[in-house]
Parts: sequence; C-alpha cells; structure tokens
Amino acid sequence: MTATGRILIVDDEKVVRDSLAGWLREDGHVCETASSGELAIQAIRHAAFDLCVVDLKMPRGIDGLETMRKIQEIRPDCSVVIITAYATVGTAVDAMKHGAEDYLVKPFEPRDLSAIAERVVALRRVRRPEKGGSASVEVSRFHGMVTRNPAMLTVFDMIRNIADLRSTVLIEGESGTGKELVARAIHENGRRREGPYIQLSCAALPETLLESELFGYERGAFTGAVSRKRGKFEVAGGGTLLLDEIGDVGPKVQTDLLRVLQERRIVRLGGSEEIAVDVRFVAATNRPLRAAVQEGRFREDLFYRLNVIHVEIPPLRKRLEDLDLLVFDLLQQASKEVGRTVKEVAPAAIERLSTYAWPGNVRELENAVERALVGCRGDRLEPGDFDFLFRTGAELLSWLAPSHLSLKEVEARVVESVLRSSGWNVSEAAATLGIDRSTLYDKMRRHGIERPDEGGEQETSR
Ligand SMILES: Nc1ncnc2c1ncn2[C@@H]1O[C@H](COP(=O)(O)OP(=O)(O)OP(=O)(O)O)[C@@H](O)[C@H]1O
Ligand SMILES: [Mg+2]
Repeated sequence: MTATGRILIVDDEKVVRDSLAGWLREDGHVCETASSGELAIQAIRHAAFDLCVVDLKMPRGIDGLETMRKIQEIRPDCSVVIITAYATVGTAVDAMKHGAEDYLVKPFEPRDLSAIAERVVALRRVRRPEKGGSASVEVSRFHGMVTRNPAMLTVFDMIRNIADLRSTVLIEGESGTGKELVARAIHENGRRREGPYIQLSCAALPETLLESELFGYERGAFTGAVSRKRGKFEVAGGGTLLLDEIGDVGPKVQTDLLRVLQERRIVRLGGSEEIAVDVRFVAATNRPLRAAVQEGRFREDLFYRLNVIHVEIPPLRKRLEDLDLLVFDLLQQASKEVGRTVKEVAPAAIERLSTYAWPGNVRELENAVERALVGCRGDRLEPGDFDFLFRTGAELLSWLAPSHLSLKEVEARVVESVLRSSGWNVSEAAATLGIDRSTLYDKMRRHGIERPDEGGEQETSR
C-alpha cells in the first residue's frame, strides 16, 4: 500500500550511499546514487526524481546546501531531504527555511528514512493531483465534515494520504475551523485507529502541571505525588496524541518536547527508567506558529520538528460556498438539541450569512443557527432570524473577543470589517475610517485583505 517513487541519494561515502539505497529499494522505491553534488546535478538534468537525499557535508566540490539550491533550480518540484551530523543541525534548520522537506540526524535508522520517503511521495500526490479531477464541485463528506471548497477537499485528500504515516502533523487554522475534527480524522483513517486517541490542551495548564501531564511521574517525585502516574506520552502509546494550542507552550516544555520528538523516549518525572514513546503526534494552533518563531516565543527547531506535515484549514469566510451545506447540517443537529424542527432555510438567509465575516468560524455558525432556530417563528429560517449577527459593532466585537491579537492584527480586522460592511466600497470605507483611499489601498495590500471573489471568473454584483 505504500507509495513508491524515484529517489536520488547524494553522499560522498560509498557505504552510506549503498546502505540507504538498499533500504529504500526494499520499500519498493527506484534508487540512484551520486558521490558528489556535481554528479547529482548531472543526474537531475537527465531524469526526474521525486526526492533527493543529500548529505550536508561533502568535503570535495559543492556542499549539500549548494547542491540543494541547484536541484531546486533545475527541478523545482523535486523534494530534498538533508542528512546531517548532530553538530550541524542548525544548518539543517536553515536548509528547511530554504525549502528542504526535512532533515535526518546521523545516526538514523532505516525506518526513519523509510517514513520520510513514504511521506514525501504521498504528499506529492496531494500537491499535484491528477489532471481533470480538480474542477469537481461535488460535495464531499468526511468524518463529520462537509465541504465543496477546493482547499478543504485538499485537506481531506491530505488526511487520507498521510493518515498511515507516523510523521508529526501541524494543523493551523483560526478558532472554530475544525482542527479537532481534522486531528481525529487523521487518527481514525490510519493504522493507529485501534489505539488510543488522546487530546491535551497545552494552554489550559501551567508549565509544571503540563510537564507532569505529559511525562507522568513516579511516586514521591514531588509533594503530592502519592502514587505513580503515567503521562499522556505513555497513555497515547500505539495511538495518536493531539497537542492542542501548541503555540502557548512555555520554553521549558518546548525543550522537553523537542527531545521527545527527536529521541522518541522519555523518563517519568522523578524516575530513571527510559520508556520508548510510540505515539503519532498531531499539534494544533489557532495562531500562526511561524509568527511565534519570528517573535522569539517559539523554538525554531521545534517548529520544524512539528511542521513535518502541514495542514492548513481555511477560515469560513474563505469558503462561503460551504455555507448552505453547513447550515443544513447544523440545523438538523440543532433541531435535535433544541427539540424543535425547522427543515428549511430561505436562500436569502444564506445570502445574508455570506456577508458576515465569521470570526468564530464554524463554531460561531453552529451557535448562530441554534440561536436563529430558537427565535424562528415560521417553518423556515429567514434572513431576519439572523439579525443579531448584524447589530452595530457585533462583528467587530467578536473579532476582538479571542484577543491575543497584536495591534497590527487588530488594525487588519478593523479594516476588513469596515470594508465588508460597506459592501467593499473603498471610498465609503475610507471615509468611515477617516483615511484617504490610497492609504486604505496600502493597508489592504499590507494586511493581505482582498475582496472575496476578486480574481474569480464570475463577477457578482450586489
Ligand atoms: N467542515 C465542518 N463541517 C461540519 N462541522 C464542522 C466543520 N468544521 C467544524 N465543525 C464543527 O465546528 C465546531 C468547532 O470545531 P473544532 O472544535 O474542531 O474547532 P477548532 O479548530 O479545534 O477550534 P479552537 O481553535 O477554538 O479549538 C465543532 O462543533 C465541529 O463539529
Ligand atoms: Mg480546538
């Protein structure tokens, strides 16, 4: 069932080349080898590869980084994995910034390389889907999620392709976009589905408590440790562990986590026995983790260890074509909970919902549908049943509600909100904000704010 591909191994040492090629051939890949960067570049010119495994340090000729750059130039869609000694891990992290897919620290085991090769080949299928199938607008249902949005469909494909791997997954998406559903779907689709699925919110706990939750402890490890307790790393053995809100983890636990991800073994607090960790890690965050790295709040090396597979869930305002599907599903669900059945939704109500920004995403929609149902007088939901969403300032307030926002983010949200309520009329929005049009255009550009549908094929007029 594993995906197989064409792989080039670049290393100056013959033993290394031969053993890596041997392992990968056992997995069914087609392998070639090159003893220097220059020879690798020649090989790449002649044939396409899915993956190049490149030694960082090669004493003669060009080094691993330069080799990688040339490979990317000649074949931009070929993935590169760097092999490095422990001492040069920093350089490997740099390589990832410049587009390396991953790195392996020497010495590593055959299954580490197998896992990476399998993942790279599996991901390529997602990134370059077969021609012809892409324009489909069919509705897809998957583990409690429903969509017809291309970006969400790619997320579903991705989950199917990576579920069986053990590689760590980082799920990014705003609050309420469905990160937990995605994490669970990854677990339930893979070989670990019979094993436990454990979820831990890292934001809820102070650092010392988080540590003992993760690692467990021996009796007497600290005051109050009256008996041995297994931590989540152990409890999730054979299964999947979701580290939710990973961006809120403090520096101490970040360092611990890095070690666990690299060594795959732990020691309970107050203990000495080493315990192997057989867990598939999934991490989730509602604030971009890369930004936390840039601000110095999150370890860069840990970021790369977590971000081996990246899943990004688009916010609801970027998949408004899903609104009707979601509303119908959520309405059924709410009908059961509220004990009152309304089966229909006026098309104009959906239309009205599509003018709202949904800062709380699907969770907010869930609540809105329930509230509309409770207030609904007739036997179908009408635009007026959603009036509460549009009270002055309501949207803006809910944007700001999660409030770990930086001043820059607040500005972006205010600008977007005002544009939206003016129907994307730039002159009107600029007047409301008390700035001139060119300043507004500048702010839109800087914050990446675009009018929905812009660039799309069809023009909608309102
Ligand atoms: N595509 C979808 N289809 C149907 N329901 C969805 C979809 N996405 C999310 N939901 C529902 O929306 C709610 C929020 O989802 P979830 O808890 O997974 O979000 P989250 O991204 O983890 O949010 P947070 O960052 O706040 O923890 C859940 O009740 C979930 O069932
Ligand atoms: Mg969540």
